[in-house]
Amino acid sequence: MTTAKKRVLSGMRTTGKLHLGHFHGVLTNWLELQDKYDCFFFAADWHALTSEFQHPENIPASTRDLFLDWLSVGIDPGKATIFVQSHVKEHAELHLLLSMITPLSWLLRNPTFKDSQEESKNEEAATYGFLGYPVLQAADIIIYRANLVPIGVDQLPHVELTREITRRFNYLYGEIFPVPDPLLTETPKLLGLDGRKMSKSYNNAIFLADDEETIRKKVSQMITDIQRARRKDPGDPEVCNLFPLQLLYSRPEEVARIREECPRAAIGCVECKKILTVNLQRHLAPIREKRRFYERHPDDLNDIIAAGTSRAREEAAATMARVREKMKIS
Ligand code: TRP
Ligand code: SF4
Repeated sequence: MTTAKKRVLSGMRTTGKLHLGHFHGVLTNWLELQDKYDCFFFAADWHALTSEFQHPENIPASTRDLFLDWLSVGIDPGKATIFVQSHVKEHAELHLLLSMITPLSWLLRNPTFKDSQEESKNEEAATYGFLGYPVLQAADIIIYRANLVPIGVDQLPHVELTREITRRFNYLYGEIFPVPDPLLTETPKLLGLDGRKMSKSYNNAIFLADDEETIRKKVSQMITDIQRARRKDPGDPEVCNLFPLQLLYSRPEEVARIREECPRAAIGCVECKKILTVNLQRHLAPIREKRRFYERHPDDLNDIIAAGTSRAREEAAATMARVREKMKIS
């Protein structure tokens, strides 16, 4: 007897190129999941609009970059279904129907919405679409009858809300949706060049698509142990924001050497950075190469997206047929 594989769904907003934080926080996890489960990964361009509606012109390029990033690290269209949210219009229909059964109070107490209300007095940011963000996310998830949703902890309230909306739908109209479980991904502590969390908005990130020279420059600018002002001062790898990257990228014997020599000032930060640069290049060069392949073969990329979209559409259409039947609406 064969048991069907569980279904996994996750998405990323199309807001720009991915950096090493995304790679270690999300993509390495997706790479494992695609071997075990029936995975659906999509580019959430409608969700990007909730914050980028004043600059929609950047979204198509971001969508493309996202797919290039995914493919270059090894997301395999032979294993996972990858597609664009706005190409599957059924998400919007289900979003509308779910919005009928979602109490306003659930959305108003959602922490992401509450924080945004407190942070910004910018009324333009407080749109109906932003309030409904988690309802669209619920539609994204359950339209594929997903069982598992890999996410970072910041997304947990959204998946909780998805679960509540799903239960409410099933109670009102009949059990057609599995209630999805979040799959929390452990995010290693990865800091940016300036020692703050790696993030595009802090301008401190190393991007997967960065070329050799850019990586070398960025590493050389990295802040190290701030107590270590001079070469002869001892350092502490445990408080240095370079060290987590050494752990991820450098060879065990190099890591051991740094751990031993840094506290007695036997190795300097310049040399330590050279070691990291070499190892980053070693890991990132094949990723860049794969990216270049798809950049040079845009038709291959388009074919992959088209194939993923058509599989996603089939699944979404099948779900919507049942939803319409249950909700007595055509
Ligand atoms: N909100 C998610 C984020 O910002 C993106 C997203 C949209 C998503 N729909 C989803 C994630 C469905 C998981 C499942 O990262
Ligand atoms: Fe950080 Fe390396 Fe300098 Fe030690 S030698 S402080 S680990 S950069």
